[in-house]
Order: sequence, then C-alpha cells, then structure tokens
Amino acid sequence: MTIATADRTMLPQPCGELSAGVIDALANPAGSAVPTLAASADPYGRDLQLALHTCYGLHYRGFADVDEDWEWDPGLLGARARLEHRFLAALRADTTQGRDVEAELDRLLLVPDDDDAGMGAFLRDHGMPWHMREYFVHRSILHHQEADPYAWLIPRLRGAAKAALVAVEFDEFGGGHAERVHQRLYADLLDGAGLDSSYLSYLDVVPAPMLALVNMMSLFGLHRSLRGAGVGHFASVEITSSPASRKMVQALERLDADPACLTFYREHVEADAVHEQLMRRGVIAGLLADEPELSGSVVFGIRATDLLEEKFSDHVLNCWQENRTSLLDPESAGEKSETSMTDSRMNRDFAATRPR
Ligand SMILES: [Fe+2]
Ligand SMILES: [Fe+2]
Repeated sequence: MTIATADRTMLPQPCGELSAGVIDALANPAGSAVPTLAASADPYGRDLQLALHTCYGLHYRGFADVDEDWEWDPGLLGARARLEHRFLAALRADTTQGRDVEAELDRLLLVPDDDDAGMGAFLRDHGMPWHMREYFVHRSILHHQEADPYAWLIPRLRGAAKAALVAVEFDEFGGGHAERVHQRLYADLLDGAGLDSSYLSYLDVVPAPMLALVNMMSLFGLHRSLRGAGVGHFASVEITSSPASRKMVQALERLDADPACLTFYREHVEADAVHEQLMRRGVIAGLLADEPELSGSVVFGIRATDLLEEKFSDHVLNCWQENRTSLLDPESAGEKSETSMTDSRMNRDFAATRPR
C-alpha cells in the first residue's frame, strides 16, 4: 500500500450513491471491494460526474491519505468504465455527427468580438464582482489541471501533429518557467481575487456542469480510441480562447480588478492567437494527414465541447438571471463572499479582494 499525503487535496464529499461508492472505497487499501456501480443515474448529474472526477483524480495529483495503488486497481477501473460508458453514450447521443473539420473550425472563428451573447459578454457588459468570483471558482476546477490532460495525447500522435501539440503545451506549462505555468497564473488570479488558490479547494461547491467539462478532457486524454476527439476539443479551446479572454480582460478592467486577475487572461489573448494557428495548421492538419478516418472523431470533440460549455453557461446564466448563486455554497467562495446580491454590497465585496 502506497500512501502519499504531501500537497494532496482531501477526498470530496459524496453527493449520491455513485460518488459515495467510489469515495468510500478509496478510504480502504487498493484491492478492497468496489461496489458495482449501476450507473443508471443522470449522465450529466453531479453524482455520476463527481464519481468519475474522483476516479480521474487518481491520475492527476491524487488525494491525501488515499492509497496511490488505486490508480490502476482493476475493480475501480471496471467501475470507472461503466461511468465513462454512460457519459460517453450521452455525449454521442446529444451531438450531431459530421466529418467536415475545416467547416467546424471556421464556425468557431466566426464569433465576433463584440457579440452580446454568452457568459463572457455578460461578464464584460454586466458582470458584478460576485459574478466574477463565482466564475473564477467554477473555472478553478479546470485551470488547476489546465493542459494536463492534453499531455496524454502526445504519445498517441506523431510527426507534425506531435511537434505542434508539444509546442502549444510548452507554452501552457510556462516555457520552462514555473511562475509562467498557466496553472500557476490561475492560482495567482485566485489569490488576487481573495479566493483560495489551493488545489481543487472548491470541488465541493462546484455543480455538475464544470465537472462534466473537465471529465470530458480526462476521458478523451486517457483513451487512445478518443485521440481525435481529444485533438478536436483542444483545438476548440485554443481557437475560442483568445476572443473569450479579451472579453474577460475588458470585464476585469471595468471592475478595476487585481492585476493578477488580468495577467491570466492577457496571457491567453496573446498566446492563444498563436496556439490557434498551431492547433489548426500543425496538430489537426498533421493528424488528419496521418489518419484521415479520424475526422468524425475530431468533429465530435469540437461538438461535445460546445455542448458542455453551453450546459455550463446555461446553468450559470440562468442562476444569475434569477439573482441567485450558481455555486452549491456561495459562502465558501472566498472569505468575504456575500450572499446578498445588492449592488453596493457586491462592490464592497470585490473591493475587499484588492490589495490595500
Ligand atoms: Fe493556457
Ligand atoms: Fe493556449
């Protein structure tokens, strides 16, 4: 039994039968019984997504006081496979099929900078400090692991596709400088906003949609058969990131946010304009030159990303339009988080996150 505790997050709180089955099992040594997970639950629901996220967490930085040998435990892998099957089947059922990768990429590029739909536009035009803090908390689940699942694509590619993907990843991992690793820049952003920057510290307050998005990245990365979808997803992120980050810069400038909050998004405005080209002309062109039969899988990765980003955006915007929190526990979104949604208190709340 191998137990590691340094710099590991605690196991999350279960929220249903599936997540309790996984989380309770991990309290025991690897090789202990894992309940049979029927996985008849909602494939996008928090219980299934948290169970899956916990299984995947063993492939990242693990959990405090959890036997590291669980990572390759056959019983747990079998349970995970059932969860993955249900999630993947839902993603396939809820996306239309296509093979025209170029048209798909062109569509992603068509979103004008001044569009007024979506969460980025909402934050830019109407976002209040508490909206921004909630957004940071949701996205922390993704950015603490930013670019990690794409590294699993490297051994699955070759030639031009591999070279270009590694060039993008080199930037994502700071180009040799720990302080420039994008995961670190996001932790600095959280600090700048007065939030908790420790690894996955908000896991218990983030609802299902962001867990599903992050799980999709792990699913695509960990399965060679889904390498086309992984590339499609990664390309979609890089292509849409630069204009989306520009909206965030505008929102944060308007709110007079801490400079660390701006640094993360400014970095992505610049870097992702280059990454978009590398993904399109290097990774995707290279992959499809080698394996043209993967075009449908690449399109699936792009459309599944659209689907889950839309579910995330719908959840958050619906909550905000009803003037209520999009998190499970707004009190934990920073020391000075307010549940009140009156303008004056929100302004004071954000001001409290800035350096004095
Ligand atoms: Fe990045
Ligand atoms: Fe990037």
